[in-house]
Amino acid sequence: MRYVKLAGSSVPAIGQGTWYMGENPHRKAAEVAALQQGIELGLTLIDTAEMYAEGGAEEVVGQAIAGRRDQVFLVSKVYPHNASQRGVPAACERSLKRLGTDCIDLYLLHWRGQYPLEETVEAFERLREQGKIRRWGVSNFDVDDLRELDDANCATNQVLYNPTQRGIEFDLLPWSQKRGLPTMAYCPLAQAGQLLQHSVLSEIAERHGATPAQVSLAWVTRNDGVVAIPKAVTPEHVRLNAAAGVLSLNSEDLRAIDRAFPAPTRKQPLAMV
Ligand SMILES: NC(=O)c1ccc[n+]([C@@H]2O[C@H](COP(=O)([O-])OP(=O)(O)OC[C@H]3O[C@@H](n4cnc5c(N)ncnc54)[C@H](OP(=O)(O)O)[C@@H]3O)[C@@H](O)[C@H]2O)c1
Repeated sequence: MRYVKLAGSSVPAIGQGTWYMGENPHRKAAEVAALQQGIELGLTLIDTAEMYAEGGAEEVVGQAIAGRRDQVFLVSKVYPHNASQRGVPAACERSLKRLGTDCIDLYLLHWRGQYPLEETVEAFERLREQGKIRRWGVSNFDVDDLRELDDANCATNQVLYNPTQRGIEFDLLPWSQKRGLPTMAYCPLAQAGQLLQHSVLSEIAERHGATPAQVSLAWVTRNDGVVAIPKAVTPEHVRLNAAAGVLSLNSEDLRAIDRAFPAPTRKQPLAMV
């Protein structure tokens, strides 16, 4: 597994997402087991949010990390409509309760909303002083947003990134890398859609004795300072995602992906899901 420096910690370049977890009580046990399997295999960064199943995903995570909190780097996110002076501490308190912990390692603003950035940052800093969060960051911020934020305490920007969504390579990714701001790549498997059926990914996968999903994860994390957070509940998917941590693509593979999914040649609006 490759490691990335994030918010003062060394974290695996591949972690675990949790969107759509916690929505169905019948699936909860499988979701908890998947996260625990991932932790055992080294996928010790877990990404969640108060938005996912309106707290349900945080409850799944809380159950999964009970008794193993110290092995996990925990990321959660506050809704923009809660990102006010009063809203942030109240939302964080609810998240802490659901997660069954007294501290979140990295707390993100999920996307920009109606509250001024300074107000949200002030609330984050207060939580940091109180020890309820270790660090804070943002999500779905483009270069202009980061320039406006202009705060060296921001520990990450979490954005959409996979071979079919390369817009950030034009400006946001180099801008962040230059400033040492790590990027968390969401939907690194393009939500298991067409990408995983693409012949180019299949050919590369075959050459490496790997799967297209593993190729996508190796590609997303090929740059320093990028962490991918695939979500997986199927045990075989969790196993494959952990194993992707040692897959390294060569220049021939990268050229083939560039031909199939060309890098951006001009500014693109930041894509979100
Ligand atoms: N900040 C934001 O605005 C934002 C937005 C979107 C997502 N996120 C975060 O990013 C995480 C990842 O994004 P996502 O969940 O939307 O999409 P994703 O990780 O790209 O794709 C998830 C899908 O891929 C499947 N999968 C997982 N591993 C696989 C493998 N090795 N081979 C084949 N299929 C595999 C999963 O199936 P199974 O579950 O059946 O294994 C699931 O259907 C989220 O869970 C969330 O934590 C953040």
